[in-house]
Amino acid sequence: MQTVKTINEMRILRGKTAGKVGFIPTMGYLHEGHISLVEQAKKENDSVVVSIFVNPKQFGPNEDFTRYPRDEQNDIELLEKAGVDILFLPTVDEIYPEGFETYVTVENTSQVLEGAKRPGHFRGVATVVTKLFNIIQPDNTYFGQKDAQQVAVMKRMIADLQFPITLHIGETLRESNGLAKSSRNVYLSEKDRTEAAVLFKSLQLAQEKFQKGEKDSAKIKNEMEKLIRMTSGKIDYISIADPETLQELDFIKKNALVSLAVYFGKTRLIDNSILH
Ligand code: PAJ
Repeated sequence: MQTVKTINEMRILRGKTAGKVGFIPTMGYLHEGHISLVEQAKKENDSVVVSIFVNPKQFGPNEDFTRYPRDEQNDIELLEKAGVDILFLPTVDEIYPEGFETYVTVENTSQVLEGAKRPGHFRGVATVVTKLFNIIQPDNTYFGQKDAQQVAVMKRMIADLQFPITLHIGETLRESNGLAKSSRNVYLSEKDRTEAAVLFKSLQLAQEKFQKGEKDSAKIKNEMEKLIRMTSGKIDYISIADPETLQELDFIKKNALVSLAVYFGKTRLIDNSILH
């Protein structure tokens, strides 16, 4: 694996890379969820590029940018082992040099759910991913369903800006108790980690109720809420929405996206599933 830190080196390497290039953007502190995206990309491309960049522009002023977990050495080992060809590891100054003032905004899809709770978050994501696409020029890119709204925003952005890039979605990898794998899980105490399985349990409950014929969103959300209230988790939101536009649905149709955000202590966890 070749590791490059500057845009210039990355562009030179890209110029020498023949065949299909698959790209997975990450913020590091990698786990099996990230690696599953790499494995998918390995199967479908001649070369795989991963970026690790903790993007300051997607963190709010009261969020965890400075304390976001990092372990570069372990990440490099995991990516080597997974057979990644190129690791792009830029500094903040490389991506946002002094005077930077151009942003990408995906207007509607960014406004609801995570976007409503984290103003500016998706502007930061859309901006950095646009820059990474321009630098790396992949044929295929891989994003996790774990961040369902991020997928919806990326789909819209790729279509609207006409990037010649195909978006592939990887399913959510979970711990054995159902907790979705996340770099932020390191913040959880042992007790939180056990209790946080309730996010997945509440999604399974929604699925069960829907399969038994319940179509009323409010009723399903209420059942989910009751289950979560049995733990120390504090609900930020529970949503049942159209999977593309993310507009809330009063009455559920097939493929509706159920998503939720729950705090355990200061740690905010998100999860989702598609009803079928
Ligand atoms: P990060 O949180 O590091 O996630 C990188 C990719 O891994 C995302 O596409 C995310 O959805 C996926 N992922 C995370 N947990 C997963 C899991 N349990 N199973 C499967 N995939 C999972 O998302 C970001 O970084 C950033 O916003 C980024 C796109 C890199 C822009 O800065």
